[in-house]
Amino acid sequence: MKLRSLTLRDFRNIASLSVSFNESITVLVGDNAQGKTNLLESIYFLSTGRSHRVNDEQICIKNDCESALIKGVIEGSSPFELKVVLHPLGKSLYYQQTLIKRSSDFIGKMNAVLFSPSDMELFDASPKARRRFMDTELGKINPVYVDLLSKTMKLLKDRNTILKEKVIDEAYLEVVTERLVGFQSDIIRLRTAFIQRINASLNKYFTQLSLSSENIQIDYSGPVEWSIDCETELREKYQRHLERDKFMKVTSVGIHRDDLAFKMNGIPVSDLASQGQRRMIVIALKCALLDVIEETIGEKPILLLDDVFSELDALRRKALFSTLHQNTQTIISTTDLEHVKEWLSDAVTIYEVTSGKIRERKQL
Ligand SMILES: Nc1ncnc2c1ncn2[C@@H]1O[C@H](COP(=O)(O)OP(=O)(O)OP(=O)(O)O)[C@@H](O)[C@H]1O
Ligand SMILES: [Mg+2]
Repeated sequence: MKLRSLTLRDFRNIASLSVSFNESITVLVGDNAQGKTNLLESIYFLSTGRSHRVNDEQICIKNDCESALIKGVIEGSSPFELKVVLHPLGKSLYYQQTLIKRSSDFIGKMNAVLFSPSDMELFDASPKARRRFMDTELGKINPVYVDLLSKTMKLLKDRNTILKEKVIDEAYLEVVTERLVGFQSDIIRLRTAFIQRINASLNKYFTQLSLSSENIQIDYSGPVEWSIDCETELREKYQRHLERDKFMKVTSVGIHRDDLAFKMNGIPVSDLASQGQRRMIVIALKCALLDVIEETIGEKPILLLDDVFSELDALRRKALFSTLHQNTQTIISTTDLEHVKEWLSDAVTIYEVTSGKIRERKQL
């Protein structure tokens, strides 16, 4: 899968931009605050139908403008066009000029894996970023997951509304709980399998990138462990927590409380790993994701590396270069070409990004 061209109108600090990408490596170089991340964000939008930086996507519309447009032409087994329009009422997603109603029909049409410095949030105290990671990445390869998740979130909301009523409708509460149990056991199964699959490659990539032998593993914790009896166990757990839920007026059990624990040699990464090691764990995670996506959809996703090189020493930068597949389309942002010198060759396109404008740089 390759992004052939990208057109932007009034997206962030970019008034108008039209750019084509080569099949392998493109470098976006520019000083701080010029629009490199904005450009990568727009490509991520085409992959997931949303921003990786903000929840309120109105912020992505250029100041004092009415709407923003992102359009990409993707070369897969057959070429197709994806379009995102941000407007005051929200956003509209298009596939081949047809408005897409359900975002699950848009997400993953173009698959991109993004490394962003904000991924370091994965090691923060709050589990929110880790759940978002699972939801985004699983959603990109499995539309069924997106539907299951949105149905579950709606049911959780319904259940909480019932619990808050003065007189609880017990029959309705039971129906909603039973549906929740069914959907959630599917989600637990999919999340468990996904993390298992990531773990299968994570260590290999971390060793290659870090040139060290620490053991990296992700532990998934859901409301119950996945097994063939998962549904029964979950039902029983809801039953055990019923009185408490009624008292607290909120659902205490469920996949909305799930978390991931990143461990290095069995110890939480946040307690142990250096800045550089954390960065390499995230990069290893993204490399593992590339494999998982390719295995699932049969095509290599596009790799977006935003400012990946800061905090990596020369040796690790080199290790990253030799770890990545040369035939993956890769778009890299950097403030300094010196950081990507291993990547530079005649086949690489370099674009200079200045004040939201882009210009090809012919000379290295
Ligand atoms: N809606 C918007 N309208 C106009 N400008 C915006 C909007 N949103 C962000 N910007 C501007 O875009 C610029 C930041 O662009 P971006 O984050 O892409 O920088 P960058 O080139 O990645 O820089 P760095 O190297 O520091 O990461 C900032 O100057 C910011 O004020
Ligand atoms: Mg940036």
